[in-house]
Amino acid sequence: MDTAQHWQRTYDTKGVDEVSWYQTDPAVSLRLLTAAGLTPASRVLDVGGGASVLADRLLDAGIGDVTVLDIADSALSAARTRLGERAGAVTWLVRDVLAWNPEPRYDLWHDRAVFHFLTDPADRDRYRRVLAAGLAPGGHVVIGTFAADGPQSCSGLPVARYDADQLAAQFPGFEPIESAREEHHTPWDSVQPFTWLVLRRR
Ligand SMILES: C[S@@+](CC[C@H](N)C(=O)[O-])C[C@H]1O[C@@H](n2cnc3c(N)ncnc32)[C@H](O)[C@@H]1O
Repeated sequence: MDTAQHWQRTYDTKGVDEVSWYQTDPAVSLRLLTAAGLTPASRVLDVGGGASVLADRLLDAGIGDVTVLDIADSALSAARTRLGERAGAVTWLVRDVLAWNPEPRYDLWHDRAVFHFLTDPADRDRYRRVLAAGLAPGGHVVIGTFAADGPQSCSGLPVARYDADQLAAQFPGFEPIESAREEHHTPWDSVQPFTWLVLRRR
């Protein structure tokens, strides 16, 4: 099964509130996006945003330029359905981020639990190339991965785990300006430690 099929099947067979990464309040993301300079004029990209409610909260905050990209159309469909009429205010892109050719237009690149699936160094190189192409000059990255003591897999796939220094080292063209640790509680109340970083492009 390829990556797209894996994720499509995941969202086809589980409710969006039954997946381990489900959260009702993306508080850490919003706090760190704010630390990275989020304003109503910001152009925000949620990479691998799936059916996350982050888009809803960004619209609530008056952010007018929000893009959600995901490899799984079913995840984006669920988010569109939830948002109803407001879905038209978001740009939805069904793409593999590793094969994407973005315009350099995003001020804020948000990634919660996507980069950590890239266990092949060549895929991490691809990701960094796409990030470099898509981020506007002066742009920021807000990224969350499983922490060094976090789970070794997610959604049946192996992950790479990072502490803040290890994650910062993955992005040599960027300066870390804030880090955080989050203990995410899954819908069945197991704890998944996350490492978060805010990075500013040098
Ligand atoms: C663990 S989920 C996190 C979803 C969302 N960021 C959140 O916090 O709720 C990982 C997401 O990344 C998406 N994804 C995985 N690989 C991807 C890729 N190569 N390109 C785009 N999206 C991808 C999956 O479809 C899934 O929605």
